[in-house]
Amino acid sequence: MRIGTLNIETPIIQGGMGIKASMSRLAGAVAREGGIGLIAGSAIGMEELKSEIIKAKEYLGDKAGAIGVNIMVAVSNFEEAVNTSIDAGADLIVCGAGFSKGIFKIGKERNVPIFPIVSSVKAAKLSERLGATAIVVEGGNAGGHLGTNEDSWDIVEDIVNAVNIPVFGAGGVIDSNDAQRMLDLGAVGVQMGTRFIATTECEVSDAFKQLYVNTRKGDVVQIDSCAGLPANAIKSPFVDRLKSGTQEKAKNCVQCLKKCNYSFCVNEKLVEGHSGDTENGIFFAGKDVWKIKDVISVKEVFSRFKNVFS
Ligand SMILES: Cc1cc2nc3c(=O)[nH]c(=O)nc-3n(C[C@H](O)[C@H](O)[C@H](O)COP(=O)(O)O)c2cc1C
Repeated sequence: MRIGTLNIETPIIQGGMGIKASMSRLAGAVAREGGIGLIAGSAIGMEELKSEIIKAKEYLGDKAGAIGVNIMVAVSNFEEAVNTSIDAGADLIVCGAGFSKGIFKIGKERNVPIFPIVSSVKAAKLSERLGATAIVVEGGNAGGHLGTNEDSWDIVEDIVNAVNIPVFGAGGVIDSNDAQRMLDLGAVGVQMGTRFIATTECEVSDAFKQLYVNTRKGDVVQIDSCAGLPANAIKSPFVDRLKSGTQEKAKNCVQCLKKCNYSFCVNEKLVEGHSGDTENGIFFAGKDVWKIKDVISVKEVFSRFKNVFS
């Protein structure tokens, strides 16, 4: 299947997951299965970003599949991270958590497909007009920062009908029935985050993965992120403190975001979550994380979706 300049076998995007939850090991494994693997390029050093892209691309070799980089528009070094990723050989750039017009110019000049993450018909149409190769439509049921309160199931079809570029549906895709539901709404494929955290290749700690397996329905709540956006995370001591107003404000700020309200440090909390610190960390997850019962290989994820994408 061709999408712009990309040659892939299966229209599954492994969503970018910061900080350092999706790096070369996970993204490379996804691309080797013929999908699109995304390295999370937000709030990491430029040298590390470069070397992760090179490692993932080497692992992919000349097989069908693609390695991209996800960068949040909200990060202070957004343009630098985009250019560094392209210099290092990223096959595409996926950007969310805000809207950038400038990114499409860079994509055109450097002949790299741009997939913006959008949550409204307006942003989807504007993206198409500015030159997006495809779009990811993400609902309020997804993991991480959110652009809407509406579930993916309620917004994908309207956006598919409003544009003539490929649409990937994101939010709530855990199994093949969910993927089929996205295709029935007119999407060409899916982007998944939550399912890929619970894989052997994912770079987060085992404690993070086990939290996913043990989560029950209703354990994911919406919080107000210091980035000025709502976000879905698993209930935790940190979330309790944030909601009750007792969470310590950000202290050692490294100015990773263009705008921050300093209610906490998302950078620090994500790193703590990544390392499995269940007392202090933040654990982003989609609302349907309760459906995950096991930690499996990326190969197994793809084989569970084979009946839909063959
Ligand atoms: C732990 C975690 C971290 C995430 N980090 C980012 C990120 O850095 N940038 C981004 O655009 N999306 C991020 N996302 C969203 C995913 O890329 C993806 O769109 C979303 O998880 C899809 O919904 P699902 O979780 O229901 O599969 C994150 C999601 C999770 C679960």
